[in-house]
Amino acid sequence: MLSTKQRNGVQQNLLAWYEKEGRDHLPWRQTDNIYHVYLSEIMLQQTQVSRVMDEYYPRFLKRFPDLKALSEATLEEVFSCWSGLGYYRRAKNLHATSQLTTPTLPDTMKELLELPGIGKYTASAICSFGYNQSVSVVDTNIARVLGRLYAKETPKDKELWEIADSFLNHVEARSHNLALMDLGSMICTPKNPTCKSCPFEEECLGKNEPELYSQKKKTLYIDKTLYYGIFQRDDKVAMYRSESGMYKDMLELKELDAKAEGELLGTFKHAYTKYRLEVYVYKIDMEGDKAVWIDKEKFAEAPISSLTTKALGLLNG
Ligand code: ADE
Repeated sequence: MLSTKQRNGVQQNLLAWYEKEGRDHLPWRQTDNIYHVYLSEIMLQQTQVSRVMDEYYPRFLKRFPDLKALSEATLEEVFSCWSGLGYYRRAKNLHATSQLTTPTLPDTMKELLELPGIGKYTASAICSFGYNQSVSVVDTNIARVLGRLYAKETPKDKELWEIADSFLNHVEARSHNLALMDLGSMICTPKNPTCKSCPFEEECLGKNEPELYSQKKKTLYIDKTLYYGIFQRDDKVAMYRSESGMYKDMLELKELDAKAEGELLGTFKHAYTKYRLEVYVYKIDMEGDKAVWIDKEKFAEAPISSLTTKALGLLNG
């Protein structure tokens, strides 16, 4: 445990470090527009900061400048603007949330948590970074920093949130949380942290064995084999709207029950959330029910998962 005096000292060192080294320039940190903050958090869930900042965030905001514009768009239009970012469920939840909350997002954790796609991290990030409320935030970076600072080997989420609450700087909560996040991504990295440059260097209880205190929970993978068929006519491919499962509402190729007799175009491995997939792709000569014919030139704009994009890539040899 840290004494109150130590904790206050550490908090001040953290803020001083953030002033000098932090990424205060990121566009979603330079605004109090709740929609912008919310959008950035959803995009950043599975996508690198640089790609979000340079490409997707400005493009999406140009196309859908506020919640109202987003709520009035069709899901197709939202998917098309999300194209390339992957994990389309995020786009679907954004759209659904915009329809539930126009003109603006609620400002309590409780109400935010009721919205599609908003979990505890995102709700707290919106309250802290957007509404400037005094709430703690825990993402994977912050969890690692706090786990090491307090030398917790395999802390449960609940314990990490309690530590974050007790360590929160109530006077400067927003900067405190952003600083912890940056410390985790810039200094207190999973491998080879640069403890010498860390504002917690003296007080950190885990500094002698940082790798012991950053163990990730083991992911349990599910292995699966999938078979898809591509039916092509001129420059168009028959696709089908998925009605359930992990790719719900997106366009997919025809899923086959087993290996097909016809020409095997190729195979590849693909990882998606907890699945480790082995995918076989065949050329077939069969149109299923409710086919949507997509021109090859339009693949990039269609709601197509990265798995299907890889499968379609086999068409070009
Ligand atoms: N700033 C605010 N939220 C962020 C996030 N999720 N990732 C990186 N920088 C952020």
